[in-house]
Amino acid sequence: MSSRNILITGGAGFIGSHVVRLFVNKYPEYKIINLDALTYAGNLENLSDVDQSSNYLFEKVNILDADALSQVFARHHVTDVIHLAAESHVDRSIHSPLDFVYTNVIGTVNLLNAAKQYWKENLDQHLFYHVSTDEVYGALGETGLFTETTAYHPNSPYSASKASSDHFVRAYAETYHMRTVITNCSNNYGPYHFPEKLIPLFINNIITKKPLPVYGDGLYTRDWLYVKDHALAIDLVFHKGEKDETYNIGGFNEWKNIDLVKLLCKLMDEKLGNAPGTSETLITYVKDRPGHDRRYAIDASKINKELGWKPTVTFEQGLSETIDWYLSNQEWLNHVTSGAYQSYYQNMYANR
Ligand code: NAD
Ligand code: DAU
Repeated sequence: MSSRNILITGGAGFIGSHVVRLFVNKYPEYKIINLDALTYAGNLENLSDVDQSSNYLFEKVNILDADALSQVFARHHVTDVIHLAAESHVDRSIHSPLDFVYTNVIGTVNLLNAAKQYWKENLDQHLFYHVSTDEVYGALGETGLFTETTAYHPNSPYSASKASSDHFVRAYAETYHMRTVITNCSNNYGPYHFPEKLIPLFINNIITKKPLPVYGDGLYTRDWLYVKDHALAIDLVFHKGEKDETYNIGGFNEWKNIDLVKLLCKLMDEKLGNAPGTSETLITYVKDRPGHDRRYAIDASKINKELGWKPTVTFEQGLSETIDWYLSNQEWLNHVTSGAYQSYYQNMYANR
């Protein structure tokens, strides 16, 4: 691909910041425009190591603002989009479903419209890359894997909003011949993960000696992928993915929550110099998440066979690096857990 002006939405969030960093460093010939509304989940500190690069710039824009989106396309001659901006936390979607409809559905359609309007007759020369989740497929039983042809069966307001956004992207490909690609990825973990999600929340709670709230029986299963491997997959699909295709991305790495939490406790005790078993005493079983999906697991053989992608980081390595990152970035943790985070945490966990 020759020189591109790539609009990355949600670039100040967890996964988005890793994608922006990868593209800014790896492709000096591309201009990377990070568009983000800086909600509670967006933090420009996540990009302090690349924000002075000459091929990087930031636009504070909400994807609900259709006019502002059109202006960004025109101002920066946007050639391609990698769309990650979203409300991403299932628990928040249970409390405030409409926020998810606005950003994830209407925001995505606004972005599709802005791209369609700006790219006009040359839609096939541009790419709209939509980053989605495995949660659109619903829940698995004890066996089986999600493939790209598994029927959509979203169970939470979050996954329903992401499923809807996927359908709109596909509809724009069919109806207007926009060149699109969608990837559906499993649970990510790694540096800059907001501490409302399982792994960073529990790391933070171990550091601050707070209870570790395990939902239900703790036997729910997730497939974990190191975030930098997700960013590498996005790079590959952006450059080599087939037009209008979907690719599943996963870690080949299933863990029951309670087993993962016990491993995390063990590693944290080692790194903090605690006596073995110290952090496990913080484990507290709490009321289950409503509509909690029992098991997710991805069959990532299509992206492996067709594009040669596979995870490069083992779970042991990735989890250890993640813990080290949080332990040496406690100032970041303190910033993101001050202010509104306190009332979120109180409301979320007070009566469970
Ligand atoms: P995140 O919550 O950490 O970041 C979301 C970013 O989007 C934030 O920077 C936020 O400020 C921005 N944003 C939110 N609403 C916006 C709006 N209306 N306008 C502009 N910007 C807005 O999310 P994440 O975990 O990095 O996830 C990124 C994407 O990847 C999402 O689309 C999510 O559905 C998808 N995904 C996440 C995972 C995961 O495990 N975290 C797995 C698969 C797919
Ligand atoms: O599968 C991909 C999805 O993974 C992404 O699309 C979402 O954006 C991302 O948030 C994540 O969703 P999950 O709901 O799987 O992630 P979360 O970290 O919230 O929860 C992981 C598991 O841990 C889940 O079974 C619920 C459980 N859990 C979570 C929290 C926050 C607990 O037991 N206690 C908790 O306090």
